Amino acid sequence: MAAVTEFRSSSPQKPASGLAAQTTAPLQSMQSAVSQLVDPREPLTLMLEGLSRALGYRRAVVALYDPARGALRGTVGLNVPAALVESIEIPLDETESPLVIALREGVPLRVDDIGAESRLRDHALTLLLEMDISSFAVVPLRSSSEQFDLATWQGRDVPAVGVVILSKDETITDSDVERLMPFAVQAGTALVRASDVERLKDSSEQHAVEKEWLFWMINGFADPVVLTDANNDIILQNLRAETLFKSNPDDSEGKHRAIWMNNFLFTAALSKAKLDQNPAGRSAGDLMLVDPIEGTELLFEMRTLPATNYFNGARGTVCVLTNITDLRYATEQVTQNIHRLQTAQEEIRLERDRLNLVLRSVPNPIILLDVANQPILMNHEALRLFQASALDSHSSRRAQVCITNEARFTSFVSQLRLDPAQGMSGEIMLTDPDASEVLSMQVTSTEVRDDLGTVAATVSVMQDVSRLRELERRRIEQILFDSEKLAATGRLAASIAHEINNPLVAIKNSLYLLSNKMAADDPNAKFLQIATKETDRVSRILKQMLGFYRPPRMESTDINRLIEESEGLIEKHMRAHRVKVENNLDPRLPPVITAADQIKQVLLNLMINAQQAMPEGGTVYVSTRAAHGADPEFLMTDSIHIQIRDTGTGIPQEHVPHIFEPFFSTKEAKGTGLGLWVSQGIVQAHGGSIKLRSREGRGTTFNVALPIGGPTQHGER
Ligand SMILES: Nc1ncnc2c1ncn2[C@@H]1O[C@H](COP(=O)(O)OP(=O)(O)OP(=O)(O)O)[C@@H](O)[C@H]1O
Ligand SMILES: [Mg+2]
Repeated sequence: MAAVTEFRSSSPQKPASGLAAQTTAPLQSMQSAVSQLVDPREPLTLMLEGLSRALGYRRAVVALYDPARGALRGTVGLNVPAALVESIEIPLDETESPLVIALREGVPLRVDDIGAESRLRDHALTLLLEMDISSFAVVPLRSSSEQFDLATWQGRDVPAVGVVILSKDETITDSDVERLMPFAVQAGTALVRASDVERLKDSSEQHAVEKEWLFWMINGFADPVVLTDANNDIILQNLRAETLFKSNPDDSEGKHRAIWMNNFLFTAALSKAKLDQNPAGRSAGDLMLVDPIEGTELLFEMRTLPATNYFNGARGTVCVLTNITDLRYATEQVTQNIHRLQTAQEEIRLERDRLNLVLRSVPNPIILLDVANQPILMNHEALRLFQASALDSHSSRRAQVCITNEARFTSFVSQLRLDPAQGMSGEIMLTDPDASEVLSMQVTSTEVRDDLGTVAATVSVMQDVSRLRELERRRIEQILFDSEKLAATGRLAASIAHEINNPLVAIKNSLYLLSNKMAADDPNAKFLQIATKETDRVSRILKQMLGFYRPPRMESTDINRLIEESEGLIEKHMRAHRVKVENNLDPRLPPVITAADQIKQVLLNLMINAQQAMPEGGTVYVSTRAAHGADPEFLMTDSIHIQIRDTGTGIPQEHVPHIFEPFFSTKEAKGTGLGLWVSQGIVQAHGGSIKLRSREGRGTTFNVALPIGGPTQHGER
């Protein structure tokens, strides 16, 4: 019986035994196995065979009492067709039937000729004839010594009872009937055995069915379930537990060892669990095992529950192991992630603090706008300009200024966004809400893009350029004033020069005539030479000054051609002083409105100066280029630039502020010191400017910028 009820049985050391294999077979096959084992007809058939052999009966039928039908029913037969046997049904209320009488009286009796037997009903008569039975003996089968009493059996278990019908080829005698008496007792025993088998069959079937359900119940979950005895040896386990604890002879050495280890760990954990159990005998704890196939560690939560077998009083423990390997791993991961998140949050907090500190300490207003132009972040200075404080009432002047400032700023940023070609910077006018001053703000905006390259926000930094603009305005005013002064001085000098020039020509002519008349060895000739040399010098000064005076003729000038003409004029002179001229002239240089003669004078002055700065000879580099749009260095739009560069002595730092002054020269008698003064006057009169860069010992570069459209602001002299 134990083998049948066990769903899996093994101990850690011993291999499984019992009917384990059958538990996996279908229910039907199990039932058939049970019925083969315990066929209730077998003892009765054996009995009939024994009777036939010993007493020479040819045919026999056993009819047993069926309480459900209240009749004797054919159960097994010997040498009669089974179909006829099963058709026999004689109700017990046929009290006159010899079969019922034999059963009731408990003694065998004899019917010599069934044809003459009026107590047999038609149904029984026909069947017996068909079985080829014309005379018979009937022997009662009573499994108990109880009196045959239908009334007392009513409603409770009826003991197995019935009759055996026996027939011979020859006539049955009284002595035959007497000899049947001991067999009636023997047959009763056979019947008891048969009914036991019947009961056994019933209970085996029930066990098999229960066992099948138990199998599904215990294996329906992926968790290993184990039942251990009082010695912690495994009595039963489900399939999942077998993979951990049960080894087979053909398992690899490694798997074998892993399973041995698992049994060891399990027994140890179980012993500990028994110590830790709560008053109800339950316990829970972790158990680390090895996966015998993968070789990986498996973590289980082991829950135990005490069990008692009330059939034999044995004590055991049910252990349910829940695999929490993944759960534990997931928990660890979650813990780690939380930790990482906390660290990241801390970093973000620090980062934000640093950012706030930077924003707070920057004096420039900084504003971060989202794509809908809503402010995300403003530093203190920006808040001052754009956000009225809670103390300001909405209609207060300060609040109004802030609203206007914000409207101007957001529309300005929108404009910048709409026209990216303009670059992301520009100037706007705001009002200081506290001082009511107009502020000129240089705004530089940068688009902040997310990982996908989409614009997420715009950060704008503002610089108050009001003071800068004011200084610039003053500087320009000064320049204008200076150039006006210069022009006035120039005009005065030129008119004096003009007045002096005519008498000077007369003096020069007179000196020429006088020197022709004078003898070569005249001791006064040297005074005449001095007078001639000095008048030449005065004449040179006048020539420079007259540059201002000549009424200028403004015309469209090809500056590149003008440069080449000027170079042609001094070509011989340059060659004599071993100075080369190298040009790099922009072929797309636009024509410029100039007084060409005056500009030619400027070019000649600069080129001669360059040559004079290179007494050992060298190269003068001349280049031109056009500059369209605003030129912040020269403060003009659409201009051309002429650059004249030498590799000569350079100008000492302390001379730089003076070289444009009239009569400043380092060339003693050879120079008048008017070249640059006159040149600057001419260039400024054209609305242009002249600048220089020089390094002592390395060389000097002069840069002349002229507006393409000619003088506009300064007008003509
Ligand atoms: N390219 C140059 N390299 C070095 N120094 C220069 C250069 N150009 C001008 N200077 C310095 O500037 C001074 C003033 O020059 P500016 O042309 O006005 O007068 P100058 O050359 O001395 O006399 P002038 O031009 O009447 O012959 C020069 O004496 C010289 O010291
Ligand atoms: Mg000069």
